[in-house]
This record gives sequence, C-alpha cells and structure tokens, in this order.
Amino acid sequence: MCGIVGYIGERDAQGILTSGLRRLEYRGYDSAGIVTIDSSGQTTLLREKGKVSELDKLVLSHENHDKVGIGHTRWATHGEPSEINAHPHQAGDIYLVHNGIIENYKELKAELKDHNFVSETDSEVLAAMIDSLYDKDTSLVDAVTQALKLVIGTYGIAVISSREPEIVVVARSGSPLIIGVNDNETLIASDACALIGHTDKAIYLNDNEVAICKKDGVDLRDMSAQPISSKVETIEIDMQAIQKQGYDHFLLKEISEQPQTLRATLSGRINERAKDVRLDGLNLSTKELKSIEHITIIGCGTAYYAGLLSSYYLEQLVDGLTIDVAAASELRYRSFHLPKNTIALVVSQSGETADTLACLREIKRRDVKTIGIINTVGSTIAREVDGGIYVHAGPEISVASTKAFTSQVAAITMLGIQIAQAKGVGIKETSKYIDELAKLPDEIDNVIKNYKEKIAEIAKKYAKYEHSLYFGRDTLFPVALEGALKLKEISYTQAEGYAAGELKHGPIALVDDNFFEVALLLDNWLFDKGLSALSEVNARGGHVFVITNSTKDIDAEEILRIDTKLDILAPIVINVVQQLFAYYVAVARGNDVDQPRNLAKSVTVE
Ligand code: M6R
Repeated sequence: MCGIVGYIGERDAQGILTSGLRRLEYRGYDSAGIVTIDSSGQTTLLREKGKVSELDKLVLSHENHDKVGIGHTRWATHGEPSEINAHPHQAGDIYLVHNGIIENYKELKAELKDHNFVSETDSEVLAAMIDSLYDKDTSLVDAVTQALKLVIGTYGIAVISSREPEIVVVARSGSPLIIGVNDNETLIASDACALIGHTDKAIYLNDNEVAICKKDGVDLRDMSAQPISSKVETIEIDMQAIQKQGYDHFLLKEISEQPQTLRATLSGRINERAKDVRLDGLNLSTKELKSIEHITIIGCGTAYYAGLLSSYYLEQLVDGLTIDVAAASELRYRSFHLPKNTIALVVSQSGETADTLACLREIKRRDVKTIGIINTVGSTIAREVDGGIYVHAGPEISVASTKAFTSQVAAITMLGIQIAQAKGVGIKETSKYIDELAKLPDEIDNVIKNYKEKIAEIAKKYAKYEHSLYFGRDTLFPVALEGALKLKEISYTQAEGYAAGELKHGPIALVDDNFFEVALLLDNWLFDKGLSALSEVNARGGHVFVITNSTKDIDAEEILRIDTKLDILAPIVINVVQQLFAYYVAVARGNDVDQPRNLAKSVTVE
C-alpha cells in the first residue's frame, strides 16, 4: 500500500520520481507528492490530492534540475486524502515519505510539543521525531535510527535533509524497499516495477536495515549503525510486462494473457508424456512429502479463494489428507492448532500482504514448514518461506487480481500431484489432473477468443443492476466467491457469493427484480442439484445468468454455454468468464477498472 520512490544521481530527479510514481500508482492513488533538493540544500516540495497526473501538472509549473529527491503515492490510513495529508512530510530540515503504520503515533506526538503539526498523519509524527533528534552534532542517519527505535508499527521510509543534500536515508520494518544500483546513481522504490528501464541490479532491504544512499553507492547498516554487507540481485521483469501493450486497461491485458502466463506457471514442471510433476524449490524431500498429513492454506482476497478452490483438488488427489483454508486476516488472531506433519501454503500475488506475512511468521515460529505460492519474485513472503513455487504470472498491475488466481490454483494443483506421487497414488488418478493442466492454457485461450464478445454483450445487459448473487456448488462455490469479489471491487455494486446449497438458508430471500443472479453449473454428478437451486431462484422471479459447460436443457434468462474439453479444471475456465463479465460490467458503468476507488494493490497495512 502506498508507493515510495527516491533518486540520487546525475539526472534530473523530478522526471524520474514522477515516472516512478506512475508505475507505483496501483499501490495507492489518493494523493501524490515529491520533494527535490539542490546541492545547496534548497528544496522544492510539491504535493497534490488525487492521482499522479494531478501532481504532473504541478511539476510542470515548478520544473527544476535538482538531482536528488523522494516521492510518494498514497493510500490513506490516517487522515483523509488531501494535499495536507500527502507525503512528503516536512519537519524542520527533514522531509520524509512513509509506507506502513506508526501505531504509537499519538504517544509520540504528545511528546513533540515544539512541532506545529499540520496533517492528521502518523507519518508527520515520524518526521517530527527525526527532526527533534537531529541536532547540530547528529547525522541524519543517526537521527533516523534513534527515532525508529521509538516507533511501534511498520514502516518503509525514505528521508532527505536540507543539511545533508548528498544523501537519501532509507529504512524498513514490515514494508518493502528496494535500492536500485547503477553507475553514478542510486534509485529507491517500494516495488521493483519503478526501477525497470533504469537498472536491473537491486538490493532488497531486510527488516531493521537502514541504508545511506549516495550517488556512487549504498552504505548498509543495522539499527545500531553497524555496517552490514549487501547482496546485489537481478530484477527479472521486462519493460513489456509493465505496459498495456495496446489494451484499453491492464485488467483486460492481464485477463487476456492468461494462456501465456499459465504456460509459464506450468513450464518445466509438468511432463504430460511421463505423467509426472516436478517442482523445484519446495525444499522438501520425497520422504517429507510422503509424511504430510495436513495442509493449511492461508491468503487474503483472491489468493484466499484460489486456496479454497485448490483445497478441493488437494483432497480429491490425496486420500486422507486433511486441509483447512483460512483468510490470513482472521487466522492471525485465532488460537489455531496445527496438527503434526502439517505444511502451510502461503498464497500471495504480491508476497507483501501484511496479514499473510504475519501468519507466515507465526506458523514458522511453530516450526511448521511453509511453502510460498507467490508471484512477485524477491518479495518479503517469498524470502521468508522455507520453500516455494513462484507462479511466474508476471507483474499484475490492475488492482483486481486475475491471472494470479489461475496460476495459483495451477501451482497448488501441481503440488497436490507431487504429494500424491510421493504417497504412491496411482498414475491413473494423477494423470487426469496432469492432462487437464496441460490443456488448460488452450482452453482459456478458447474462452477468451470465442466468447469475449458474447460476454461483453451479456455484461451490458446486467450493468444496470446494483445487486447480484453468485452461486455454485462444490468447486464452483469458491469460484462463485471469487466472481462476486471481482464484480464488487470494480463495479462498486453489491455482489454476494454463496454455496448453491445454502441459498435456501437465507440468501434466496434477496431474490427480486433489483437483483440478478449468476448461477455456475458444471455438467457433472452435481448437475441436477445445481439445476434445482436454479429452478428455485427462477420460481421466485430471479434474473439468472447461467455459466455452464453443459449442452443440456437449462431454463434461465441468459445462458453462456462454453465448449471445453475440461472436466475437473473447468471451474478455472468458468472463472475466466466471470473475470471478463466483471470487466465489461465495470467498463459499461464507466468505472476506473484498473484503479478502483478505495482500493490499492498489495495491502501492506492491517
Ligand atoms: O497480493 P496478495 O495476493 O496477497 O493480495 C491479496 C488480496 O489483497 C487481493 O487478492 C485482493 O483481494 C484483490 N484486489 C482481489 O482482486
């Protein structure tokens, strides 16, 4: 949440900072700001409410050639979106940008009697605290580390001072920061996307590390100001992956590229001919895989639903395996029990979600093996798990998660196959999954190419509704939950996901002319049960849109029959239909589909 950029080098900082902020805008878009500083310590602070495009206008009228600066794009936590609450925050000679939450900011604020607070933010308190410790005998880095010792909470910060214009000090605890290294310049970003095109060499800051960034290098220290060695890693994201490439929106691009991104997830891991799955990086021996008796899956939002859908496949694949799936935000405060021989699957696109990370740390504390199902390479969760499967879906820029879901389900299903293989499950059982995984990219391609227009047409019809009810049974229940989440977050309409069998226990009372329903139906042993739920809704005047792979008789207001060779994994294809449906509804309603209101990609605060 929120984006941080920084620059120190020989080029003009303003352009680099604002273009970095544009790349990070998906992390928060309530307000944006930059401050630059010249070699004499003269600063230019520019902040604006709203998107980076608003800040751009301000920068145009205050152009300068300063070579040092920091910037921020905000998702509001303390204080409304406004110019005054926008970062950077100033206190004396100090300018600070901050991601995270300072939990004890009220106590700290009470001690800072000399500072005239202008914003409602916790971040200004941190700036003022640093300033109060920054006397004439103290260096900026010492003032920063002393202030951070007083802080309870999470932070990724970048700080400059008009007294030391030749450095940018950065530090992290619980909020990501990456330092891009290049000849005669150093760049700072909270997300690798902002560094692409400048450098592919980066130092990933760990918690409780502070760095003094200079034009010609980085001096890394621990919180006691002791020097520590840094590891320069390679960022493997190409420019194309973070561009729209002709699509109207990142969301449509990301939905459409699923055949390719899924191939990347599967590549080198499934062998269709040998009916074999091999996942590197799990750091689990065959003996350890064989001994697994329980799997706990955690994630938030779409990652949680990907875990939920995968749990159906895991239990079908491995007889006797017990599984629980939890929303990380709930699990972290529960007194949960993990039975012996448990492994935990930590599912996250960004690898930075605060609740998921907190669960991971608690589970590790209990000596339970953790496996990450992560998209973002080098992210905090990816670095802290014991082993993992990178899903290789490429950067997901649109706030609504789509391609990550598909790849996460595929990755966990592959893991299930590998566990089944280790436990001696017969090839007859596992090969059904391998065959369907191998076909899945083409099947998704088929849906996107052949049904997109029809889905757009149906979406236009239902775009007028403010309420909807998604339902499905068995594997289609998590898919219904995900469909409803996708619609609500980008259309701003109320969408509820339910297990079809639960309708009669309450939600069917909602059915009236103000609602439409999305019924998910698979032509399998539960088809008739699904049909009953559908008839019950029809009988009460429902406006039902059915998405199905069946050619059988179905009575509904609208039916989209998809022709797919898949059986077990057909729900993933049905989910792609839902993604397109949500996209076209949101477009028809004139919404900002990539950056929906009130949201941000990567929820790094509680
Ligand atoms: O980065 P993560 O996968 O950990 O993010 C989890 C959720 O915040 C995320 O899936 C969110 O629900 C999306 N906006 C859903 O589209």
